[in-house]
Amino acid sequence: MNMKMKKIAVLGLVMLTSISILAACGSSKTDDSGKTGSEKKDTLTMATAADFPPYEYMEGNDYKGIDIELSQAIADKLGVKLEIQNVPFDSIIAGVQSGKYDFGMSGITINDERKQSVNFSDPYISAVQSIIVKSDSSIADKDALKDVSKIGVQTGTTGDSDATKDYGEDKITRYTVATDAIQALMSGKVDAVIIDNKPAQEYVKANGSALKILPTAYEEEQYAIAVNKSNDDLQKKINQAIKDLKADGTVDKILAKYESNK
Ligand code: ARG
Repeated sequence: MNMKMKKIAVLGLVMLTSISILAACGSSKTDDSGKTGSEKKDTLTMATAADFPPYEYMEGNDYKGIDIELSQAIADKLGVKLEIQNVPFDSIIAGVQSGKYDFGMSGITINDERKQSVNFSDPYISAVQSIIVKSDSSIADKDALKDVSKIGVQTGTTGDSDATKDYGEDKITRYTVATDAIQALMSGKVDAVIIDNKPAQEYVKANGSALKILPTAYEEEQYAIAVNKSNDDLQKKINQAIKDLKADGTVDKILAKYESNK
């Protein structure tokens, strides 16, 4: 090796070393904040689908709703900052499972299938599925849906799985965003939409007298917060926070606030 080549080789080695030092610094940083089991985290990332009033929705650029306020109250109890990410509902469980988000709070119903992928907190609210149809629709009840050709649902929701089971895949039209299913109903692309009762009331209210709600015979569902399976610590802390916030009246206060918004 001549002098020049040696110099280049040494330079290269120095560069490589500094790159790997930089990389090491970088990765230890991301490890710290991206680790699901970390106790030192000062920010928790929550995934939600903000298309679901009164639980989570946008008002201009602001997040609003029961889950939004409750998650903020939980973060306050835990002494951490909350970062909200608005994502499609059907990506929340997978994102929590992979550690992309610390937790998911989005009117998520506890069910056995999801329990394979994530852990759930204690339940904090119950809900049932409703059927929304046009006001002038002749569809009278759940059974009458057997005769319609198109039922709209939000992709990956319990409304989706219930409707698919009861009426068959061929009748189901899936929408990533819940409000798109409502738009499809308004414009006649689907004959009915199956979705949780409270959002159903909000969507109907938002559309004048164009829509109405039919009762269903679906079972009561429980909403809970989804946490990564390896993060027992966070699950425990969230459960304690929910317990405290129920006991000190915060949960009732938040619920009442969105009740009186009607
Ligand atoms: N409770 C239903 C479920 O867990 C629907 C939740 C939809 N949430 C939302 N933010 N769009 O499947």
